[in-house]
Amino acid sequence: MNTMTTTFAGNHAPSTDYDPFAPEALADPFHYDGELREFSSVAYLEKYDVYAITRQEQLHQVGRDRKTFSNKSRPFADPNSAYKPALLQLQDPPEHTQVKKLALELFSKANLEYLEAAFNDEAERRISELMSNGEVEIEAVSSLATPFISTVFLDAVGAPREGRELLKYYADAALNSSAPKNEHFHKKMEIGAPALEWVEKNMKRETAGQRGWGRDVYTMVDEGRLSEEDGEQLIKMIFTAGFDTTVASISNSVKAFADNPHQWALLKSDPSIIDNAFDEVLRLYPPVRYTGRMATRDVEVDGHLIREGGLVMTMWLSGGRDPRFWDRPDEFDITRKNANGHMTFGVGIHSCLGQHIARMEAKAVIGALLRHVDTMRPTGVSEIADNMQGFAHTTVPVVLTPAT
Ligand code: HEM
Repeated sequence: MNTMTTTFAGNHAPSTDYDPFAPEALADPFHYDGELREFSSVAYLEKYDVYAITRQEQLHQVGRDRKTFSNKSRPFADPNSAYKPALLQLQDPPEHTQVKKLALELFSKANLEYLEAAFNDEAERRISELMSNGEVEIEAVSSLATPFISTVFLDAVGAPREGRELLKYYADAALNSSAPKNEHFHKKMEIGAPALEWVEKNMKRETAGQRGWGRDVYTMVDEGRLSEEDGEQLIKMIFTAGFDTTVASISNSVKAFADNPHQWALLKSDPSIIDNAFDEVLRLYPPVRYTGRMATRDVEVDGHLIREGGLVMTMWLSGGRDPRFWDRPDEFDITRKNANGHMTFGVGIHSCLGQHIARMEAKAVIGALLRHVDTMRPTGVSEIADNMQGFAHTTVPVVLTPAT
């Protein structure tokens, strides 16, 4: 592990040679990003010439102050990236406000009601079938979370059925694309290439424009409210942001409950706390490790100077376990009073567009598990994905016993 040595000059942020992208950091981000958080609320990462914001209070300050912390640039963001469209995530108001307003129309009350019913039906169908022969051993990422999201999310987008299995490679590449262009980056881009081709094809009017959000987006284009290019980019942004993150949040839910049977028993005895329980999963295991901003002026954060033009990593994952804000931060406690204080969906004007969808999907699955599963327990080690910007498990092996 790299050392965290302080070279303190005036009120400049303490400097460190910590590399958040080193293999050991990817294998255990809670430990290493946690060390960085305890080192300083604002740390200057020498290797990348970037400031890391690590604690809950300062993350809140940066996320909320959109004028001082712009989205026009972010650490490692490439405006021409084939994976991450610049639309929304690399915009500031007024452009950002206009696009976000249109994008939010995709989540109208009528659309959400329709989707909620579709998510619940699919979760019920899938989990009742899974439990139909009694006790069952599954690997929850490949046999529950991925097929569920591949069905409901891609139906919602309006993607064709053929080729959906490719999206996981695209999503993995996308979550490694806003990161340094190291060997790991190039490996992921290569693996993602065929999937990128599939996404490029399926965000076009001829395919995506026939159903779901794709049709809604192209209707906006036809009404002259969005350019054709922005329409394509918006669909691509939804593909990019909404797949891996939600697969992770569902498999992370299974992992958290399987590891903590008393918490599962608690939720079974009082399903009305399901919202708080899912917030606690999101806090404990955030699918997005960091995003970022750029300082538009010299600014002090917790007494540390960030220079105008300085690029800032907002370390959401480390904030979720900040002991200054969370009591017993490494424990999974679904009765936690401030569980919804996490910033797993970001904070401020750039907070997640699809958070209602993510919540509805996860609640559909957890709700069906509550009806059909009595106990869950792990049967092996859950592997952590080698992902630079995301956090996910690649395997969650569990045994489920049926509800009687
Ligand atoms: C558990 C699942 C998800 C998590 C943890 C998550 C997390 C995030 C985070 C951390 C941000 C950036 C916040 C920032 O930089 O301030 C974000 C933005 C975004 N997310 Fe999500 N997301 C999830 C699911 C989704 C879904 C399902 C969709 C689409 C249906 C989506 C669409 C977007 C979009 C378009 C943005 C950019 C918003 C903007 O810049 O204004 N996300 N999300």
